[in-house]
Amino acid sequence: MKWIFPAIFGMLFFAACQNKPIENESLKTHGDVHTQSNADKIKVEHLNLDLSVDFAQKIISGSAEWILLNPNSEKQLTLDTRDLHIDSVLVDGQSVDFSLGKKDDFLGQSLNIPIPADVQKVKIYYQTSPGATALQWLSPAQTAGGQNPFLYTQSESIYARSWIPCPDGPGIRFTYDAQVKVPAELMAVMSATNPQVKNETGVYQFKMELPIPAYLLALAVGDIKFNALGPRTGVYAEPVVLEKATNEFSDLENILAKAESLYGQYRWGRYDVIVLPPGFPFGGMENPRMTFLTPTIIAGDKSLVNLISHELAHSWSGNLVTNATWNDFWMNEGFTVYFERRITEKLMDKSYADMLWELGYQDLKAIVDELGANSPNTCLKLELKGKDADEGMSDVAYEKGALFLKLIEDNVGRQKMDIFLKNYFDHHAFSTITTEQFLEYLDKNLLQGDSSLYKKIGVHQWVYEPGIPANAPRAERERFSKVDSVRTEFLNGQAPKQLAVQNWTTHEWLYFLRKLPKPLDMDKMIALDETFQFTESGNSEIANLWFVAAIAAQYQKAYPAIDAFLKTVGRRKFLTPLYGELLRTGQKDWAVEMYKKYRKNYHPIA
Ligand code: BES
Ligand code: ZN
Repeated sequence: MKWIFPAIFGMLFFAACQNKPIENESLKTHGDVHTQSNADKIKVEHLNLDLSVDFAQKIISGSAEWILLNPNSEKQLTLDTRDLHIDSVLVDGQSVDFSLGKKDDFLGQSLNIPIPADVQKVKIYYQTSPGATALQWLSPAQTAGGQNPFLYTQSESIYARSWIPCPDGPGIRFTYDAQVKVPAELMAVMSATNPQVKNETGVYQFKMELPIPAYLLALAVGDIKFNALGPRTGVYAEPVVLEKATNEFSDLENILAKAESLYGQYRWGRYDVIVLPPGFPFGGMENPRMTFLTPTIIAGDKSLVNLISHELAHSWSGNLVTNATWNDFWMNEGFTVYFERRITEKLMDKSYADMLWELGYQDLKAIVDELGANSPNTCLKLELKGKDADEGMSDVAYEKGALFLKLIEDNVGRQKMDIFLKNYFDHHAFSTITTEQFLEYLDKNLLQGDSSLYKKIGVHQWVYEPGIPANAPRAERERFSKVDSVRTEFLNGQAPKQLAVQNWTTHEWLYFLRKLPKPLDMDKMIALDETFQFTESGNSEIANLWFVAAIAAQYQKAYPAIDAFLKTVGRRKFLTPLYGELLRTGQKDWAVEMYKKYRKNYHPIA
């Protein structure tokens, strides 16, 4: 997660952070400025979806029925929409006059529906638009199998409203049922109970009986097959990818058990993953019961599987205990990175987790350097009023958030920390939390009014002030020191064949490549490539870093491979550095030429 939105660059000098805790705010929602819905005053209990997926027109159409309670006798229900065509609205079976509010670039349009005090059901008939932000429609040529089209959604952060009229704030939860009709040769899966085989009607039923926020609504449709990995775990993928995916993720049941041994029972029933086509803009998305994954983590040697630990960890931090607003985004991602590294430490060992901590620290340092150490976007608590919800979602939330938790652990000891976190998840299960509520809970249950500890940690500074605090913990660098020595030897003229790299894992290579001088001398590029075949690497993380080096050094031999990579891979983590390096090094013409050709393979969000 390196990316940061361009608008941020204009804002480097607005120094003040959101300093005052928000008090006594009603649901709207704890000051959620990214929803126009009034689902704080009206209780939206349940959603019934009845949808039909039309690949020819690139439209989802059907109905969304909301089951409501209206304890305050509100006269209007307001939902979020974005580029939806609303055909009609029924309130308890009667057609009503509804209205759509003014279009807002970030928020979309409010949908205003008159309701009586005793309202029970509001049913909306609607269609999505072909450009819906959450949807990526892929032609057969854009899939691995090449025979059938594919569709998937990406609802986080505020894109659910572009495919379902809904109260689209992370602080509003509801259960859902869905019926989805797709072409008979395809299968559909959702963030819910899922089918494991195709049926000949193309009609699938789904149920999510645990309350979730709108950003976790998800749908994928394609020629997919299922393979079990363990009693509670499995993988869905296109048939040509399924075997590779099954091998790569064969430890999933064990990863799940490790996660449970840390912070308590997995509460969602099954945990399945789906491997999407390569245009998926993220590494992974933690849709409940069905993590969506980029195929670029299939390296052939399980070395990138820690990304699944991250998405699985969200089943506690994020999906079970959810950030109340996008200003509290670090509560989702920082907790998850901390949890993910704890899982990794159990699966591998401490020295391995330490490498991830160190790479993460470097990412944090890079983003803080880029934004400026006084930038408000380097605070954990964000202030996104009037801005896109995605703005400010950077490595800061992930890495500074995780380091804050690690610092707390270092101060109180692992045992206390783990009891605290387990209780935290139990106590707040299926609800949302603001940064301020967390700090209060932390004080009450872990720091226990110990003001010297509170000060020593610097809780307020960590959360509300920009930059990286001086007491940020650093992991041990045992394995990376060795990498540093090897890199120095190489730069001093040692032949690559002579380097002591025999036991290196992917993450040692990543560190080696990251810290190469840019541009590296051509003879050294050639020597490295001859010995290690980086240009042909099947490991996307290694390939990405190598390609950045190749672009910087204008190492033409890698250019066809870079072209092939950018043709299919839509993961923003790779697009940004590769296109960025092309622009930085005066190779814009080539960048534009590729972008024009391959743009259709990237998701609208990327
Ligand atoms: N929830 C995020 C993806 C996301 C974040 C989507 C913000 C929309 C807005 C997911 O859990 C995530 O963090 N994915 C990372 C992988 C991870 C190992 C850091 C990614 O996609 O890079
Ligand atoms: Zn995440």
